[in-house]
Amino acid sequence: MASLALSFSTTTSTTTTTRPSQPKPSHNFCTHATRHHRFNVSCKTTNSSGQNQKDNQNSEISQPKLERRNLLLGIGGLYGATSNFLVSDATPTALATPITSPDLSKCATGTNLNTQQPLDVNCCPPTSTQIIDYKLPPVNKMRFRPAAHLAGKEYFAKFEKAIALMKALPPDDPRNFMQQANVHCAYCNLTYQQTGDPKLKLQIHNCWHFYPWHRWYLYFYERILGKLIDDPTFGLPFWNWDNPDGMVMPQEFVRKESPLFNGRRNQQHLPPAVTDLAYSAQSPTNPKKIIPNNLTIMYSEMVRNGSKLEDFYGAKYVTGTKPDPGPGSVERGSHTAMHGWVGEATPSGEDMGNFYSTGRDPLFYSHHANVDRLWTIWRGLRESKPKDFPDSDWLNADFLFYDENAQLVRVKVVDTLDNEKMGYIYQDVDLPWLKNRPIARVKKSKVAASSGAQPAETVFPVKLDKVVKVLVNRPKKSRSKKDKEKEEELLVIEGIEVDTATFVKFDVFVNDEDDKPDEFDKAEYAGCYSQVPHKNSMTVKTTIRLGLTELMEDLDAEDDEKILVSLVPKAGGEVITIGGIKIIYAS
Ligand code: C2O
Repeated sequence: MASLALSFSTTTSTTTTTRPSQPKPSHNFCTHATRHHRFNVSCKTTNSSGQNQKDNQNSEISQPKLERRNLLLGIGGLYGATSNFLVSDATPTALATPITSPDLSKCATGTNLNTQQPLDVNCCPPTSTQIIDYKLPPVNKMRFRPAAHLAGKEYFAKFEKAIALMKALPPDDPRNFMQQANVHCAYCNLTYQQTGDPKLKLQIHNCWHFYPWHRWYLYFYERILGKLIDDPTFGLPFWNWDNPDGMVMPQEFVRKESPLFNGRRNQQHLPPAVTDLAYSAQSPTNPKKIIPNNLTIMYSEMVRNGSKLEDFYGAKYVTGTKPDPGPGSVERGSHTAMHGWVGEATPSGEDMGNFYSTGRDPLFYSHHANVDRLWTIWRGLRESKPKDFPDSDWLNADFLFYDENAQLVRVKVVDTLDNEKMGYIYQDVDLPWLKNRPIARVKKSKVAASSGAQPAETVFPVKLDKVVKVLVNRPKKSRSKKDKEKEEELLVIEGIEVDTATFVKFDVFVNDEDDKPDEFDKAEYAGCYSQVPHKNSMTVKTTIRLGLTELMEDLDAEDDEKILVSLVPKAGGEVITIGGIKIIYAS
């Protein structure tokens, strides 16, 4: 990654954009250049999705929809499983269609799926019989999302006022603060049914809907806040935890009198504690290493593990897929770490550390604004590589939200592909992790051959209650530059069996001879699996894929026939089972 020409193609199809006028650091993506990257932007109309926006009036009122799956059963069309990422356990057997918005009237807090005990959480939203198919409104003035640590007093006074007003709305107003928090709970706590199958629950995490769904969630949250303070340019602040300047909890959220304050946070992690992107409650990180670790972790998630679409976004999830087919690199890594780091130091980790309660902490929305910003940045780094799944199963998936007028609206993934088209931009700040390609701790070939570890085939399935080291065969070695450009070498860890109510984490290292490797700022670190728990426990089987192409170069091990893989449990190892490991090549 030497020089970077970022190409942000914009899809503003309707209007001229007016930037907000208040003084602020440069944020014009159209002409901006920084020391580390250049944005090469056309502000002309291109429609990346190939979809036509007919008009901008939210005028079509529809009745609660027919179940699309039932309709399709009559039409036919077979589902073709082409992706390696779909483990058989998660693969729907017959038809696949995009997941559809849930039937709110069937929302059930219900029972814990594992224990059959009633759950003490109710996060079902108010229902409404009128649903509007949402059209992105014309962008007259761009909303500006500032970095929290740079936003300043005046900005925060506005934000605090907006949150206070949101908290003061009647409790049954779907825009009320708790109702908004419950939106997240309902979509993550296995509260909704998937269309057409009462037994299969809807989960928008740990799959390819992670980015689009949260983009919509923040979109409406921001518009509600803006409306409450009568400021159509209001944008949420992002917590810039990928930059050392932002690696501390933003001060404004910590002041007791502030509406942004929340008492349910880990008291050890208030400022000046440095945010730890490798965080897991049970295995503390060496404090001196936290910042270099954080930068390498970001590089690993955004570059090394972000080469193939599904590795960045997460695995395919369609009607019939069981929850949690596979999280993307940022979701399972820094994103999950920050949830756990902020939440209380208890096993359930409220508020931020548990999906059912996370929306109750105002800091959640700044955390996720940063995740959303990373999505935009990743797209910019792709240059000419594809940025979106072409599958209609992804583009046409839809969700329900209440908008700023308390109107229930149906939204689609296809409308989330360009944040400018949605009417907001991010403050442009340095990306120090981008220069942070790690070097190897030890450069040495044939590490695996002399390690004495067992071959993977003889070890799995295995419980991760201790460090597990195995030899994994590389079907191809000494690949040419061209081969490497064509196909990414990937380490696939499959059949990861976990309970969704437990915080778990394990790290993965390649060719590291340490008994218990823990250096994240070195090339041997390949990535991690980690999961934010939620309240409804269910055993899931999931898969992750880790990019090896660059890592093998950095370790000087490109000619080796085998690699040594270390799986290092960091939290909840006794409840993690791993089904198998293999290397594949994905074009
Ligand atoms: Cu929906 Cu970070 O969680």
